[in-house]
Amino acid sequence: MFRKIVLTAASVLTLTTGAALAAGEGGHVEDVAFAHEGPFGAFDQFQLQRGLQVYTEVCSACHGLRYVPLRTLSDEGGPGIPEDQVRAYAKQFTVTDKETGEDREGLPTDNFPANTGAGAPDLSLMAKARAGFHGPYGTGINQLFRGMGGPEYIHAVLTGYTGEEKEEFGTTFYENHAFSTGWISMPPPLSDDQVTYADGTKATVDQMSMDVASFLMWAAEPKLMDRKNAGFVSVIFLLVLSTLLYLTNKRIWAGIKGKKHA
Ligand code: HEC
Repeated sequence: MFRKIVLTAASVLTLTTGAALAAGEGGHVEDVAFAHEGPFGAFDQFQLQRGLQVYTEVCSACHGLRYVPLRTLSDEGGPGIPEDQVRAYAKQFTVTDKETGEDREGLPTDNFPANTGAGAPDLSLMAKARAGFHGPYGTGINQLFRGMGGPEYIHAVLTGYTGEEKEEFGTTFYENHAFSTGWISMPPPLSDDQVTYADGTKATVDQMSMDVASFLMWAAEPKLMDRKNAGFVSVIFLLVLSTLLYLTNKRIWAGIKGKKHA
């Protein structure tokens, strides 16, 4: 009887999760194998640098990254850009100084500028904001089982254009498979060879989308690697502790338990 119940429960569970995985809400999103995924995954430093380049040369025309401090570009585990280069990078921005109220060149201690002119959302937290997008009712089941999340979504949006467009209320909308409503007001931002990568990587739309998606994941969660390391250390610690407790327990009860067999 008990076995039957367990079996039924197990099959119901597999059926529902199976259906849930198949259904998926919203637009169509494909899985991408990012370097940062999995328990031992780490951001690919060169991919983050390429992503920064795509963001700077393309996306920043419309989108801001206002919660990301420029100095973190030189952090370990991130794009790892040398400090003098970060200083040079920061100089291209004009910042209104909070204390003097005057405009000055950007410094590494400033954040990336905000940009709301085009009505485009800020991208600082986009990779996390869209992490649970997928799976029934936003439960994020696909993320849990297949490691699909925000970066996959961003990649899918950037590569999901069909080429169709329509105009409604004076705004042009572009058909996009990944966007929830199917029509997005962002014009297709990428085309092949739009940027020139210093490391010789071919700048296809697919490649640039993966690079910038990975960069935005880092921007939204710069401490991802630290978090994974901390998790790993605690699991090892718990394993050692459990073994010691098990052995202690055996030893304490050895006298009493031993008698039963005698
Ligand atoms: C010409 C301006 C423009 C450029 C360039 C641009 N975007 Fe957008 N983007 C927009 C606008 C406008 C929206 C809001 C679209 C909407 O809600 O219909 C948007 C929305 C988005 C969204 C949010 C989709 C959602 O689920 O709400 C993402 C992600 C995004 N852009 C990423 C990028 C990336 C990455 C780049 C650089 C490769 C880029 N954008 C370049 C204008 C732009």
